[in-house]
Amino acid sequence: MRQDQFSRLNLGLVEIDRVLGGGLVPGSLILIAGEPGIGKSTLLLQASAMVAGKNKPVVYVSGEESVNQIKLRADRLNISGKELFLLSETNLPVILGHLEQISPALVVIDSIQAVYLENVSGAPGSIAQIRENTLGLMQWVKQNSVPAFIAGHVTKDGSIAGPGALEHIVDVVLYLEGEPFSSYRVLRSVKNRFGSTNEVGIFEMSSNGLIEVKNPSRILISKYDGSAIGSIVVPTLEGSRPLLVEIQALTTPTSFGPPRRIANGIDFNRLLLISAVLTKRAGIKLSNQDIIVNVTGGMKVNEPAVDLGIASAIASSFHDSKPLPGLVVMGEVGLNGELRAVPQLERRVAEAIRLGFKYCLMPRLSSPLSLGDADIQLIEVSSLAEALRLGLSRKSERRTER
Ligand code: TYD
Ligand code: MG
Repeated sequence: MRQDQFSRLNLGLVEIDRVLGGGLVPGSLILIAGEPGIGKSTLLLQASAMVAGKNKPVVYVSGEESVNQIKLRADRLNISGKELFLLSETNLPVILGHLEQISPALVVIDSIQAVYLENVSGAPGSIAQIRENTLGLMQWVKQNSVPAFIAGHVTKDGSIAGPGALEHIVDVVLYLEGEPFSSYRVLRSVKNRFGSTNEVGIFEMSSNGLIEVKNPSRILISKYDGSAIGSIVVPTLEGSRPLLVEIQALTTPTSFGPPRRIANGIDFNRLLLISAVLTKRAGIKLSNQDIIVNVTGGMKVNEPAVDLGIASAIASSFHDSKPLPGLVVMGEVGLNGELRAVPQLERRVAEAIRLGFKYCLMPRLSSPLSLGDADIQLIEVSSLAEALRLGLSRKSERRTER
């Protein structure tokens, strides 16, 4: 099928439209995957309402909730409208029959694990059922040039319950992620036949549903007041979007047994590696220290560019020394304590400038950055030890080394 850009259906939710690459392509099948309770149904109901609000019929099929339950949720989200058709149904042929009758502009199937075909073996949610139902839907959306969302529950280890087979049938795969204790949700594209997979949307779960976060950096560092022991602000990239997040570390002497390491929002093995390099290359003895690292706001940061930020936060807590006021930190840390450049440096620095930061601690540049007359001082360093010396202020009554 030939796709042209102009036939895309805009949802009117900027963050989703961006992740989709500029709206929904007719006849595309889009999987929204995420852990149970993360907000898939909420997001899909809100998206449905946006389209229905433009006088385009939308069919929202729930196989998990009764029409009354969906209505209650819709009321909570302040959603109403005559173009929104709510359906509680799990039998695919029956669902397709309704679609033929209503001929909607958008279809939502919530969730793919709940629908079934009688002539396919296995219970709903089994691999064969998920596969055949997805193929059945695919056929309908292609024939009718109507876009459809399907929600898919993901198990804790991140696989879509049942088949990864689903991911290569559908056109677009989006993941809705977040920590259960945090209200922030990240919508990430991992596959997109019609756009880049570099985009992310950021939302906050509120009592009125998911709200788009237009200026995430400001919110994620809102509790940060310039300089605190064990706390470092790092400019990360979420897709192509710069985002400032705060990394906090706490080191305390181990009281019993082997030292503990807890990593929230960063990769556990990365924490082990950075701790080892801190010990070996910066003389910070961590073998008898418990270490906890947190990314505030429940965000996950997984790029190596945050290494130096993690290391600085740990060192700051260990030495009880504050980072320079208004400091952001970036850089990948190598096993020898050497620092490596980070991609898309300008974007990160620009975000730090925009939010009023004064110093940027970073690996030595190979060519100068053009920052105009921006009010930020770049502190270029070549090793971890040098970074800690320049980025952290030492208190005069330093704690004695253990
Ligand atoms: P839900 O969309 O049902 O998750 P999923 O479909 O991915 O399983 O979201 C469920 C959670 O969201 C539930 O814990 C309640 C919360 N929630 C809000 O905080 N605000 C709201 O407006 C709504 C509708 C749900
Ligand atoms: Mg749901």
